[in-house]
Amino acid sequence: MKTTIKQAKQHIGQEVTIGAWLHNKRSSGKIAFLQLRDGTGFMQGVAVKSELDEETFQLAKDLTQETSFYITGTITEDDRSDIGYEMQVKSIEVISESHDYPITPKDHGTEFLMDHRHLWLRSRKQHAVMIIRNEIIRATYEFFNEHGFTKIDPPILTASAPEGTSELFQTQYFDQDAYLSQSGQLYMEAAAMAYNKVFSFGPTFRAEKSKTRRHLIEFWMIEPEMAFCNHEESLEVQEQYVTHIVQSVLKNCELELKALDRDTTNLEKVATPFPRITYDDAVEFLKEQRFEDIEWGEDFGAPHETTIANHFDLPVFITNYPTKIKPFYMQPNPENEDTVLCADLIAPEGYGEIIGGSERINDLSLLEQRIDEYGLDADSYDYYLDLRRYGSVPHSGFGLGLERTVAWISGVEHVRETSPFPRLLNRLYP
Ligand code: 4AD
Ligand code: MG
Repeated sequence: MKTTIKQAKQHIGQEVTIGAWLHNKRSSGKIAFLQLRDGTGFMQGVAVKSELDEETFQLAKDLTQETSFYITGTITEDDRSDIGYEMQVKSIEVISESHDYPITPKDHGTEFLMDHRHLWLRSRKQHAVMIIRNEIIRATYEFFNEHGFTKIDPPILTASAPEGTSELFQTQYFDQDAYLSQSGQLYMEAAAMAYNKVFSFGPTFRAEKSKTRRHLIEFWMIEPEMAFCNHEESLEVQEQYVTHIVQSVLKNCELELKALDRDTTNLEKVATPFPRITYDDAVEFLKEQRFEDIEWGEDFGAPHETTIANHFDLPVFITNYPTKIKPFYMQPNPENEDTVLCADLIAPEGYGEIIGGSERINDLSLLEQRIDEYGLDADSYDYYLDLRRYGSVPHSGFGLGLERTVAWISGVEHVRETSPFPRLLNRLYP
């Protein structure tokens, strides 16, 4: 019977055939331990000389790294293995030999590994990160479908900029300028007025000249938008959503977290409600720490965010930032009109901002005034203003950056390992 490594646990005691690659091996004169991988998992195959004909044992011993084959044998329980079972090998049928595979079990530098990203994805840790990414995506659809959201897909080619005009990828759209989407938000606001609670999940592009461990040029964002929803209600959705994805990964990716040596103590503590601190209080707090020079009105950098996050040990909302350091569309804070009804969610352990969200301005004249103040071209926002002309309602939404969230939950240092083929400042290959 043909099966996979993942499914093989349903076949303990049976003989099965699996299509696999040789990940690694150890052998002596009498026994060969084959580390098999098939994309669904990693499993040991044991080839014992005394139980095989000479040719088969020799073949097992001589297999080279990343050679592909069909391997047949009996699945047996094994307490020492992570997955709890292994294969007693009976026969091997080579499909394609692999020689001089560039990524050997020794250490390689990151640039070398990034140049071989198409192969590096096969490694145990990189495999684990992508499985966790997939689980977060699955749990995202689950959460929003269960909470009455409709998925709406905003366009990728756009004529205007939601998040400031300096980080846009410009391209040509026949005889007019176009930009790759920085955020689907403005379209999602239109969608919320048509479908009430909506979410998007798609690629976004930022031509940011940043070379930090948190920045990608191309990243994926989940953007929910909710009609008749104020800022406070939006924060509650955010903390429930983030808690749901953390719990889903803890429940369904135990092997992957182990492969990554992820210490899950902090992840297990994630539960609603999340702590909140206003921007004003955060500035005071930072002054008491080692940032005496920070002034009200400055944006926070990575060291500031990390200092705040370390203090709470849980994801923390920083709320009510100054108006002038946030985009044009945010609703003023009625308690202090120099600030807006917004929050950034900062992940623990130095992973930085994973969500940016806010209540949106619903008053037509205030929005027109902001578009003017921010130096934006009113004509390209006319459709957006229509949402305030025809039955405007309070509404809020947010964007969660997938790769930063994967980095945090997986415990990988740099976001480049959370995207299958990351686009970085100095990398468009492979
Ligand atoms: O805070 P941002 O810029 O917010 C927006 O784009 C809003 N329009 C979202 C909304 O309200 N619908 O981006 C949201 C999130 C950030 O918190 C971060 O997680 C991620 O997107 N992000 C990046 N991730 C990787 N590389 C980059 N260069 C990123 N820029 C933002
Ligand atoms: Mg932000």
